[in-house]
Amino acid sequence: MESSEDIREREAFLQDVLRSAGEIVKRGFDSRSAADWAMKGPQDYLTETDAASEKHIREKILSRFPEDSVFGEEDGGDIGVRAWIVDPIDGTANFARGLPHFCISISYVVDREPVLGGIYNPVSDEIYLARRTHGATLNGKPLSVSTATDPQAATVEMGWSTRVALEEYLDVMTALLERGFNVRRCGSGALALAQVADGRSDAYVELHMNSWDCIAGLLLVSEAGGAVCTYFSTGDLREGGRILATTPGIADALKHDSATALIEPHRQAVRA
Ligand code: IPD
Ligand code: CA
Repeated sequence: MESSEDIREREAFLQDVLRSAGEIVKRGFDSRSAADWAMKGPQDYLTETDAASEKHIREKILSRFPEDSVFGEEDGGDIGVRAWIVDPIDGTANFARGLPHFCISISYVVDREPVLGGIYNPVSDEIYLARRTHGATLNGKPLSVSTATDPQAATVEMGWSTRVALEEYLDVMTALLERGFNVRRCGSGALALAQVADGRSDAYVELHMNSWDCIAGLLLVSEAGGAVCTYFSTGDLREGGRILATTPGIADALKHDSATALIEPHRQAVRA
């Protein structure tokens, strides 16, 4: 059993490691040169800063909590009872092309249950933190999801990768547009989830996301009063899954249009 002291200690550490990795990532961004990237696959960018950020985060975690495990986007790893899930840069394509919309995303899970989540954009200096049952904050201020109920006044961000057949994406996007949603894509799924938590966006849909991209963001949305997909509680952290996170007032429409199951207590939030 995890004591609240253990969790508080890790929460303070999470904030520190996001900031120190943020310095590495911001330095890499400011000093990058044109076409300074490699491709891992179609539309899948890699920079030296991804590796440097992950190495830094991994070393910090393992020197402070040697019993914990680390599972990261670049170097893989184990998922033990106490595990840190690390995305050293989410939005690498934006980072590589000079767009300041990227972040570091880290979550801490115990027995596969998300306990802490943190997302940091070192350019805007915005740090999002969530702790299970203790709420979510942006730069220390409590967060809550938007109050949207009308699709025709709501914005959904939809993520894309080559991991799912194009037709499936197009079908979901068509359904969302036909219902009247504004649909956008900004290239960092983790930041997109953070922006559902802070109410700048109303929902995020992606038909396959890896755990390092989404666990911290899903915890933020859930702690900010949003509805989240069942991947959050039952998904395979090694394989990733289908992701939906939304403000409760449009949850039923999104669940239908994206064919993604939600954890059901959101119905209470709609009625409240
Ligand atoms: C990607 C971004 C993108 C999402 C992809 C991710 P990366 O992560 O979050 O928005 O649609 O599924 O793989 O490659 O920038 O770390
Ligand atoms: Ca990522």
